[in-house]
This record gives sequence, C-alpha cells and structure tokens, in this order.
Amino acid sequence: MARTMPEATFTFNGAVIPFRDGQSIAAALTEAGQRALRRTAQGQDRGMFCGMGVCQDCLVTVNGTPNKRACMTAAANGLTIATQVAFPALDTAHAAPPVGGARSLSPDVLVIGGGAGGLSAAIAACRAGASVVVLDERKVAGGQYYKQSALKGAPLDTQQAEGATLLAEARDSGAEIIQGVEIWGAFDGLLFLAEHDGAALIARPKTAIVATGAYERPRMVPGWTLPGVMTTGAAQTLWRSYRTLPGQRVAVCGSGPLNVQVGLELANGGAEVALVAEAAPPPFTAPLPALRAALADPALTWKGAGMMVRLRRLGIPLRNRTVLTKVAPEGTALRASFAAADGSRQECTVDALCMNDGFEPQNEILRLLGARMRYDPIFGHLRCERDAILETSISGLFAVGDCAGLGGAPAAACEGRIAGRAAAARLGFGEATDLYAEQRLLRRHRAFQAALWRMYRSTPEAGIEPDSDTLVCRCEEITFAQLRAGLELDPGHVGTLKRATRVGMGRCQGRYCGPVAARLVARETGAEMQDLSYFAPRVPIKPVSISAILAAREALDDID
Ligand code: FES
Repeated sequence: MARTMPEATFTFNGAVIPFRDGQSIAAALTEAGQRALRRTAQGQDRGMFCGMGVCQDCLVTVNGTPNKRACMTAAANGLTIATQVAFPALDTAHAAPPVGGARSLSPDVLVIGGGAGGLSAAIAACRAGASVVVLDERKVAGGQYYKQSALKGAPLDTQQAEGATLLAEARDSGAEIIQGVEIWGAFDGLLFLAEHDGAALIARPKTAIVATGAYERPRMVPGWTLPGVMTTGAAQTLWRSYRTLPGQRVAVCGSGPLNVQVGLELANGGAEVALVAEAAPPPFTAPLPALRAALADPALTWKGAGMMVRLRRLGIPLRNRTVLTKVAPEGTALRASFAAADGSRQECTVDALCMNDGFEPQNEILRLLGARMRYDPIFGHLRCERDAILETSISGLFAVGDCAGLGGAPAAACEGRIAGRAAAARLGFGEATDLYAEQRLLRRHRAFQAALWRMYRSTPEAGIEPDSDTLVCRCEEITFAQLRAGLELDPGHVGTLKRATRVGMGRCQGRYCGPVAARLVARETGAEMQDLSYFAPRVPIKPVSISAILAAREALDDID
C-alpha cells in the first residue's frame, strides 16, 4: 500500500525521527522501531499498550513538559522528546504555560464520547431540535470502532467510510463536536469538569448521554508489560489511523473476533502474522450459539465466517484452545510462549504481540454519578441498569453503548438513536413514543452479542495466577504475590487491599488491575461480585494538571 512520505522530524532522546503529517508521537516512534517510551520507578521500560489514552504507559517528556501521552499527542516538527523517568524534573524554562481561562457550556443535551453511540445520540437529539454538544477525548471523533484516519488523504476502509459518514451527519445536524477534551470530574446535578486545549471546560447540561465505550482486557502473564506488547485495539489504531504497522512480524492472542479481524488487517497491510491464538474452541463446536448468532444477524455472522476463510487463505495459523503463557525479550524482539488445551506448546519470535481477552466498560463517569450497576457474570463486568429509553437510575442521565456493558457498535448506534430522541423529548423537543422499531433492532443486536460471546472464552478468571510474580498493577508495579500477601493482612475489601499494597493508586486509576483485584477479593472472601466489589470511583478520573483544577474552581466560584 502506498504511504505518504515523511514531511518533518522530531528528536527522541537525541535521535532524529521522521513522521508523516497527522501521525501521533507513538505511531512515529513505532515506525522508527522505538518501542520503549517510559521508565518505571523499578527501572522497567514501558511502551504503548492501550493506544487510546487509558494505560498511561506511553508517557514521554515533550519540550521539557512531562506526562504527555505519546498515543494521544500529535507529532510536530522540531519537538524535543525524551523518555519519561518515574519522577521527572520539570524543566520550567520550556514547560507548557499554566492553564488559563475557562469555558462554560449549558446545552440541552451533553454527549460524552464521539463513537458510534455518541454520534448517533447527537444526531437524534439535534434533529429533534435540542442544542447538543459532544465532548470527545480524541483528536478525531469516531471512537474505537470507526477509528478514523488521522492522515490527510489516506484511503478509508469500509468501517472507516461508515464512520466518516456518521461523523459528517453529526456535523450537519448542528451538534457542536469538541475534540481533545479530557473529562476529569462528574458531580450531582449534572456538572462535568474537563480540560481542553489548556483551559478548563465546565459543562452544566440539562440532560447528559454517556457514551464512553470500553477498553480491552489484557491477559496478565509474565512479560505482558514489555514494550512491544500491546492491546489488539492499539495495533489496529496504529494501522488504521496512522498506516503504521506495530511490527513487521506480529502475533495476536486472547479471545474474540477482534483478534481475527486485526490479524487480517495487519496481514493486508504487509505484516507477517505468525499466529492468532484463540482461547476458545472453534465456533462449530458450539452449534447452538452459532445458530442463534446467525439468526439474530446473518450479515455479521457471514462476515465473521468470511474472516476465518480469508485467514486460512492467507496461510495465517489460527490455533484454538490456545493461550499466551509468557513473553520474554529476545534481542530487540519478543519471544511469546503459548500453551494449548491438549498440552502442546508453541513459541514464536515477533516484533509486536497484540492481546485482547475481552473488554471492560469505561463506566467511571456513570459510577461517579451513582448510576445503579449490576454484575454480569457472563461478561465479567458491570452493567449499568437502564430503562427502555436508556435512562439510568439518575434522572436525566442516559448511558449508551459499551460503557453500560459490552454490546458492540451496532447496538451502541441503536441505543444512541433511542437515547438521543428520549433525552430531547424529556426537554420538550419532539416525542419519543414511536421507538418500537429501534427497540426491536436493539433486541436483535443484543441477541447476536449474547450468542457471540458464548462462543468465545473471555472469562475474566482466566490468567489470574494468585501466587506468581506476574505484575497486576502496571503503574505501581504490584505483583499477584504482593496482592495475595495484602489479602492475608486484611481480606475484607478491595479498598483495604489498595491501602495495604498501593494496587490501583497509579495514573491509570486501577483500570487494568482494579477488576482483577476485585475478583481476587471476591474469590478469597466468597462474596458475590457487585458494584461495591470494585474500587470506588474518585475525582479526578483521569490525570489532570493542578492548574486546570484551579482554573475550574475559579470559574465555578465566579458562576456561583
Ligand atoms: S498507550 Fe497511551 S495511554 Fe495507553
């Protein structure tokens, strides 16, 4: 595939790195073979892992300012970038200026998240006549499913073209879409605090629709934090958004259809895909769920079957009932070890290892606001309780898409259309009395997802090795064995475990270790998993500069 030529350069630890207009710092560094971005307090190298602003392991220092996420920061000509150490000294001569000013918003409907669900909600609410603002964390809306290209003029694949159409519809509808917004606080009465472009952003909407999506569940094995190991979604973002391969030779592992899809996309992009390791047995061994999926959504089932055929045609080995057991460095590459259910073992050497073992909802805002949740044992995560119009237990607060529990992009879009109309109708814009067709479509999408995930094995219990030295908390570098020791001190609750071990106290706010720690405590105490099993959500839900917090407080004082 033809690629646009590099136009400019920045330096990374003194080395000159070329980049293409639109690439993120992480994409440009990956293309240049530089995978180690940050160094931990224990001297371990870390690289891009989630590719979507969640893990905080891609932090670099840019022009003297630390804590810049390489995956979320666009490369720019002449930048001086360096590996971030654990306790960086602030270079005050070059540091970014303090945050100044604040913008206040009070739309009829605030949509948080610019993916399939959020954009669909915005379009529906706008068309009903409500004023709508969409706040999105990324530079380009579209979310994890549509993953829009950041490169000007790059060809779009089918999914990206669908996303581009939806985005254009959202813009045409009159919704204001604000990109690059980091929401760090949510409070009763529907007050949201965020940082945007170096200024505070305060939103007091009449209604809000949360559509923050989900992030990927890793498989925690020895070496899963090495640079070059990343989520399958991160590898997909590199390729789709930046036309950057995560490595020339890659392996993909975990459970679920995304792994096969991304294996194919990378192979089509020119990568050698050494292996796709799937924990579940082949789909034909579960004929009933396969039949249910086919009945619920024949087109998507057919698409999935087609992916399997293409994988075979390309000669990419797909090993079912096979799980990752270990990753180790091998020169500049990675040695990945796998074990199959029949006892056989396999190893391969790759530049990049991609993993997806299911999903965790990004439900921090919903939990902060007190929306009622229940534990879903099949998916192993919390689901937000909602009524037929997707309103949560908090009046005026709606939740759509994967943030309320995994459901997939088609269901998210459907939910967005329902919630958008319902939120607008709540304020007197149009009516939401004829949602029957959308609700019937939603039931079909949900039936498909339920059947699909009975064919896969994204069991959250998999990979928990209570006595091992495998890291659980990437940020604070806490192992399973340390968690076990902490449990013996006081097994009562994950909150006490946090205080005993520091698990979940790092920059990612326990997004990866939190669900695992919660399950360990539940297992130890015999308690049922529920909302209270998890870390209590706290403000700030994302790292934010103190100056941004002060700017928000000043602005709020002025308003009050
Ligand atoms: S890779 Fe950038 S935050 Fe996770």
